[in-house]
Amino acid sequence: MEKQILNPALMRKRKEKKTSLSVVTAYDYPFAKMAESAGIDMLLVGDSYANVVLGYKSTRDIGMVEMLSACGAVCRGATQTHVIADMPWLSDKTPAIAIKNALRFIKVGASSVKVEGEKFEVITALIEQGIDVVGHLGLTPQTAKSFKQVGKLPEEAAAIIKNAQKLESIGICALVLEHVPEELGVSVSKALKIPVIGIGASEKTDAQVMVLHDVLGLFAGDVPAVARKIVNGYEYLTQGLEEFHKRVREKTLHST
Ligand code: KIV
Repeated sequence: MEKQILNPALMRKRKEKKTSLSVVTAYDYPFAKMAESAGIDMLLVGDSYANVVLGYKSTRDIGMVEMLSACGAVCRGATQTHVIADMPWLSDKTPAIAIKNALRFIKVGASSVKVEGEKFEVITALIEQGIDVVGHLGLTPQTAKSFKQVGKLPEEAAAIIKNAQKLESIGICALVLEHVPEELGVSVSKALKIPVIGIGASEKTDAQVMVLHDVLGLFAGDVPAVARKIVNGYEYLTQGLEEFHKRVREKTLHST
């Protein structure tokens, strides 16, 4: 069966059928190709590109130029997959700025854009322009003061559910929910018709998103608590480079 690029209607159908969606971040052409051939449902060009690939301290350190370059590469690598482009810090400061920047992402091939936080006015303006928007609640790294779990207090949890419902009523097509208690992840999923894409927000949300470098174990050492290392890519790839180094020294590169 040919793979269908997910659109908002198909995403909802998947949720109705209780088919979990897999989402990973992607920041370049080769990994986008790899993720597409692995059957991953959606790719997120996250602003985590700042820390994960560019070595910056904060996601606030990245701007539109770098994000557009990454987004274009991912869209060229994964032509049959829904690509979500993360709106970087200040790129969605006002509705007019957000529309201009979101359209730049759409022009390089993105299917939707992701906006962090309760920016109802900005999100409404984007949707009115016909741009599909993914929301992001719970821990929102662009403005977070700490990276601790959020939504533990009843009033915090209630506010997250209320804001999630408000975003759905405005017309977002999916919601990323980051680092909240299990029960809250389940409650938000139950409260919405659109898919909730969890990261550290319960296995039972409608979809799971993770940073590709965590899933593939591309860094030495442990991954963050919200992540899962599925393979130890760091060890495997380092062995490959050690072997290359050895063969070059031994002048056996082409003879073994
Ligand atoms: O930038 C990112 O990678 C993200 C995910 C962690 C949800 O926003």
